[in-house]
Amino acid sequence: MTAHPQQTSEKPTPVTCVSRRNFLILGGSAITVLATYGSGAEAQQLVTSSYARKTVGKVSALKMGQAIAFKYPTKDIENVLVMLSEEAGGGAGEKRNIVAFNTVCPHMGGQMDASTFKSKHNVLGPCPLHLSTFDLTKHGMVVSGHSAASLPQIVLEIDGDDIVATGVMGLFYGYNRNPTGA
Ligand code: FES
Repeated sequence: MTAHPQQTSEKPTPVTCVSRRNFLILGGSAITVLATYGSGAEAQQLVTSSYARKTVGKVSALKMGQAIAFKYPTKDIENVLVMLSEEAGGGAGEKRNIVAFNTVCPHMGGQMDASTFKSKHNVLGPCPLHLSTFDLTKHGMVVSGHSAASLPQIVLEIDGDDIVATGVMGLFYGYNRNPTGA
């Protein structure tokens, strides 16, 4: 007869919860999936995928408050690269003020672009559909409007004068898994 768990001294196994955003942050540079077939000593398979590295601009060519469009991680995914007037979450460069974000609104896919960047407030928007606006100093967090999610942020590194995209934090609208471009 099997003892009911509450009748034994066994402690329940703690369940570790990882939020969707943190999972995606963890997956920014590499996603590791461990798939177990069967039980015991049966084979395990490790699958790893990484985002492509791509130079998306030059530090020396960026002007404060100017947004530049670029594609990453594939040639049909549009983003903006911006040098903000203040330090930003996830910012690259000496002043940690160089950031990049996807321009498709996470609410219902409204299309924004470099022209919708407002340098006075360091925000992108409003989205043309339901007017969401996103704070680029705070990981693309929603400032106003209908969106409940932040803009996906492109992870940047500085290599000499090159600004290099190395990953994505957040899920692109319309995808159930981000393409990696790799
Ligand atoms: S699609 Fe952008 S706020 Fe609705």
